[in-house]
Amino acid sequence: MKPIKFILSLLLMLLASSSAESKCSKTCDLALASYYIWEGTNLTYISNIMQSNVVSKPLDIFSYNTDTLPNLDMLRFSSRLNVPFPCDCINDEFLGHTFLYEFHPRETYASIAELTFSNLTNKEWMEKVNVPDSVKVNVTVNCSCGDKMVSKDYGLFITYPLSSEDTLESIAKHTKVKPELLQKYTPGVNFSKGSGLVFIPGKDKNGVYVPLPHGKAGHLARSLATAVGGTCTVLLLAISIYAIYFRNKNAKESKLPSKYIVVDKSPKFSYEELANATDKFSLANKIGQGGFGEVYYGEPRGKKTAIKKMKMQATREFLAELKILTRVHHCNLVHLIGYCVEGSLFLVYEYIDNGNLSQNLHDSERGPMTWSTRMQIALDVARGLEYIHEHSVPVYIHRDIKSDNILLNENFTGKIADFGLTRLTDSANSTDNTLHVAGTFGYMPPENVYGRISRKIDVYAFGVVLYELISAKPAVIKIDKTEFESEIRTNESIDEYKSLVALFDEVIDQKGDPIEGLRNLVDPRLEDNYSIDSISKMAKLARACLNRDPKRRPTMRAVVVSLMTLNSTIDDGSRSASAALSTVMEHDSK
Ligand SMILES: Nc1ncnc2c1ncn2[C@@H]1O[C@H](COP(=O)(O)OP(=O)(O)OP(=O)(O)O)[C@@H](O)[C@H]1O
Ligand SMILES: *[C@@H]1O[C@H](CO)[C@@H](O)[C@H](O)[C@H]1NC(C)=O
Ligand SMILES: *[C@@H]1O[C@H](CO)[C@@H](O)[C@H](O)[C@H]1NC(C)=O
Ligand SMILES: *[C@@H]1O[C@H](CO)[C@@H](O)[C@H](O)[C@H]1NC(C)=O
Ligand SMILES: *[C@@H]1O[C@H](CO)[C@@H](O)[C@H](O)[C@H]1NC(C)=O
Ligand SMILES: *[C@@H]1O[C@H](CO)[C@@H](O)[C@H](O)[C@H]1NC(C)=O
Ligand SMILES: [Mg+2]
Repeated sequence: MKPIKFILSLLLMLLASSSAESKCSKTCDLALASYYIWEGTNLTYISNIMQSNVVSKPLDIFSYNTDTLPNLDMLRFSSRLNVPFPCDCINDEFLGHTFLYEFHPRETYASIAELTFSNLTNKEWMEKVNVPDSVKVNVTVNCSCGDKMVSKDYGLFITYPLSSEDTLESIAKHTKVKPELLQKYTPGVNFSKGSGLVFIPGKDKNGVYVPLPHGKAGHLARSLATAVGGTCTVLLLAISIYAIYFRNKNAKESKLPSKYIVVDKSPKFSYEELANATDKFSLANKIGQGGFGEVYYGEPRGKKTAIKKMKMQATREFLAELKILTRVHHCNLVHLIGYCVEGSLFLVYEYIDNGNLSQNLHDSERGPMTWSTRMQIALDVARGLEYIHEHSVPVYIHRDIKSDNILLNENFTGKIADFGLTRLTDSANSTDNTLHVAGTFGYMPPENVYGRISRKIDVYAFGVVLYELISAKPAVIKIDKTEFESEIRTNESIDEYKSLVALFDEVIDQKGDPIEGLRNLVDPRLEDNYSIDSISKMAKLARACLNRDPKRRPTMRAVVVSLMTLNSTIDDGSRSASAALSTVMEHDSK
């Protein structure tokens, strides 16, 4: 167990170093700037000077002010506007965002701070962050991400310049946040002093206060628990080393004026960003079509993504759900990078470039996957499922596990797609019959008829996937009737279907040795390059997962353990290199 100890100590070092070195260890994606509206300004102007990855047009600002702004053209003089902006960690020292502003000849730092930027910064702070004599100036606006020692109920903050009308009581009354709490966020500041910045809790687009996200340390520890072994560990290790190395490097250089890089972290994408990235959702960029809608390839913010245009709108509850989903990270889950709610609902996923499992099993253009690759994919999927069943916060039941929802990357690592989406269909209009609300035919357990929802639904579907890995047959097989009933020839072709589960059942339940029958079901493309012992163990595990009684099916945790034992004989960790090796070993073990 030495490697585990090593990783743990690395992780502890990482956590310790992050709190010791970086003054902004807690970061967030978004903050709001309270812009005091002076006579002669307008929304277009404000959205121009405060452009960022969250604001590209007036509408982006408007959406945070729908309760006070009757419409886009009605800015009231001497009221305030909440402008969303990214809250970055600048030079590893403080939280803020720098807007680049084009200098006009007659302007001074004071006029830019006090008028153009409505006191969101001041002359002194402008002088600090700028090198004199340039065409563009840095306008740095401070921000806050909250403080879990003060309250976990608030995670989005308004940078608020105090004006002469403000008092602690008036702001408390307006925000409905207790004055004592407000004071704690900006300690030692007299709210009646008429100038200076304070941080007050802000509401999101839905008009609700945003709580602080869950702790980072807990999340890392949880992912570590499941990640031990396999590719995940390697990844985590790499991240830890990378982080420690670069943090130390940063610490050394922080005295020098370093150019900081703005990293786009917000999960919200604008429609424009997505339309630009997909050539306006052109057919050429379309890569798939599923029950929920169409899937397009695109590279918004320079990232390879699969963008799903959903058929349905997001409800308020689902929007809250989405934000949580973007924070679920595991190397056997397809990561949800972000979303967009302008017009339709769009989900932006990391792009997985080797197709789905179904394609890899059935397409003749793709080379056959070796048995050891298939076993590794089974373990990948089991690990991903175990993670969402037991470790993610909140836990999820996938309810649509199938080979189309298992994607493979260039190393043939299996990644589960589309988890967490059933809550969308649950909360959407259930009158739309075109949506498959509860799973896909061929993967549904018998108890589904009664609408019982438990993790064992996923265990059942996983059992079907194991049969697919063995046989490369689809979950539902079309039987060519003419072959069997050649006497009763009719002109009408009546299709008959059989489930893969029934096919395996027949073979395993037959009298005598099931091994020969099993051999007949094995994917012919594997030729002789498999161990029948390994296959029969896998079939046994699948059979346990497919028990009619959900209570008697194993948990995903137990499945992971079984598969690890099964894999240990030929798994050497590196999949592509192992292909040749495993073939040799499979021959040996026969
Ligand atoms: N993140 C992704 N990376 C690469 N390809 C993807 C990604 N997500 C989806 N695809 C491709 O698009 C296809 C359609 O996906 P989609 O999830 O809409 O439908 P599905 O998986 O066939 O069925 P369901 O709607 O039940 O999930 C997938 O089968 C896959 O080939
Ligand atoms: C918006 O405000 C700017 C700055 O005051 C001004 O130059 C511009 O003409 C205004 N535009 C409109 C349409 O009022
Ligand atoms: C900014 O602050 C100065 C000094 O406190 C004040 O005179 C000015 O009116 C303020 N500007 C705005 C737009 O509120
Ligand atoms: C912004 O934060 C920095 C660092 O905490 C501080 O020195 C500076 O005065 C702040 N700027 C304003 C305008 O309050
Ligand atoms: C803005 O700030 C960065 C560092 O934070 C600095 O490198 C750059 O020169 C500044 N720009 C101007 C115009 O002063
Ligand atoms: C805050 O400032 C106001 C006006 O300057 C003053 O009347 C008040 O007593 C101050 N409050 C505290 C707690 O210092
Ligand atoms: Mg899918």
